[in-house]
Amino acid sequence: MAEKTVKFLLTERDIPPRWLNLLGDLPGDPLPPLHPGTLQPAGPPDLTPIFPMGLIEQEVSPEPYVDIPEEVLDAYRLWRPTPLFRARRLERELDTPAHIYYKYEGVSPAGSHKPNTAVPQAYENARAGIKRLATETGAGQWGSSLAFACSLFGLECEVFMVGSSYDQKPYRRSMMQTWGATVHRSPSTLTEAGRAQQDHPTGSLGIAISEAVEVAASREDTNYALGSVLNHVLLHQTVIGQEAALQMQMAGERPDVVIGCVGGGSNFAGLAFPFVREVLHGRAKMRFLAAEPSACPTLTRGVYRYDFGDTAGLTPLMAMFTLGHDFVPPPVHAGGLRYHGDAPMLCGLVRAGVVEARAYRQNETFAAAVRFARTEGIIPAPEPAHAIRAVIEEAEAAREAGEARVILFGLCGHGHFDLSAYDAYLAGELEDPEFSQQDMDAAVARLPQAPAIG
Ligand SMILES: Cc1ncc(COP(=O)(O)O)c(C=O)c1O
Repeated sequence: MAEKTVKFLLTERDIPPRWLNLLGDLPGDPLPPLHPGTLQPAGPPDLTPIFPMGLIEQEVSPEPYVDIPEEVLDAYRLWRPTPLFRARRLERELDTPAHIYYKYEGVSPAGSHKPNTAVPQAYENARAGIKRLATETGAGQWGSSLAFACSLFGLECEVFMVGSSYDQKPYRRSMMQTWGATVHRSPSTLTEAGRAQQDHPTGSLGIAISEAVEVAASREDTNYALGSVLNHVLLHQTVIGQEAALQMQMAGERPDVVIGCVGGGSNFAGLAFPFVREVLHGRAKMRFLAAEPSACPTLTRGVYRYDFGDTAGLTPLMAMFTLGHDFVPPPVHAGGLRYHGDAPMLCGLVRAGVVEARAYRQNETFAAAVRFARTEGIIPAPEPAHAIRAVIEEAEAAREAGEARVILFGLCGHGHFDLSAYDAYLAGELEDPEFSQQDMDAAVARLPQAPAIG
């Protein structure tokens, strides 16, 4: 029977009691964030106007593990543990000797991995006496996750939704409103940052972040919540990889390659970091592959520099691969991947050669998503469709090599609210915008005058 198993399921008792913190394992000294005004290293006091101390402590903690509070575990039990699938039908379709596994986060209430961090962020803010959270959302997955989490802990939630996604995904807005949130199309006219960007009506994550940070910084009762990039967000997502490691043990296999899509890096890190720790300590050999859109190719084409996390330059500067904080990516359907930078922890691993990166165009990505849907059934969100595109390449390479390689990837969300993108693909109307060298040169010329990184 075991050879026919498709789902590897854990019980609620197997939800990890701790998050795994990779900060202390990374090669080299960590590069501190810089204060946006002084360009000097920013410490915890610089973050208190917009984040609660509980999250700031997690952001800078060197501890290898951080305990998950009981209230958070209690909320996690609503959808965790999530299933690990063996993609036997996709393997057959690809005629590959590779064994393909996917960890499916689409079973959460919001339909993606984002509640894994939305819940602890809402919890820590409520514990600190904060009444409201302001945030941005790209695809709408993060905004709906935070709206859901705020409803659990009695917080108000105000969401700035990237204009192109607001237009493409009206039901994401309905979800947020159902959970009690207020949603604005970004760029809005409610903030200075939004008013300055009215000539970019499609918006971008960088612009929406500026709007939310501005609101949080200007109100005592309001904090800001970020759905990706920061250390504490990556930390929270490691429940994914810790569960996946147990499930791979149940399957009696070890991944040769771990694959995920990258917008800001949180689902990739969440799945990969528990395995990366094994590799960094010489206990395992494995490849890690990050997939991103060629319209916003941060890891494959960006420069490694200090840059702001948002368009208006309100956030601390972080050492990362960047396309320039004011770059507005074309309105591709993978709204969650339209971000100019990436998590500093992940960027450090790419720079150190531990993680590889590849970029894919929209049409080849949707072709992979449709192939997946027609074999495995689940309709993926456009973001993890990039990971599926990479999985197909790796499975084909395994066939060429005649090797039964083990591939593990993150199916971080379903695409039930992204069907207008599928409509456009099926009608042959999807475009394949590319990032030009001209875009890159212009962005580099506008980078802040921060210290160079050696
Ligand atoms: C389904 C989905 N996948 C991936 C991402 C990208 O974010 P991250 O790289 O932090 O996982 C998003 C972001 O909104 C998303 O909604």
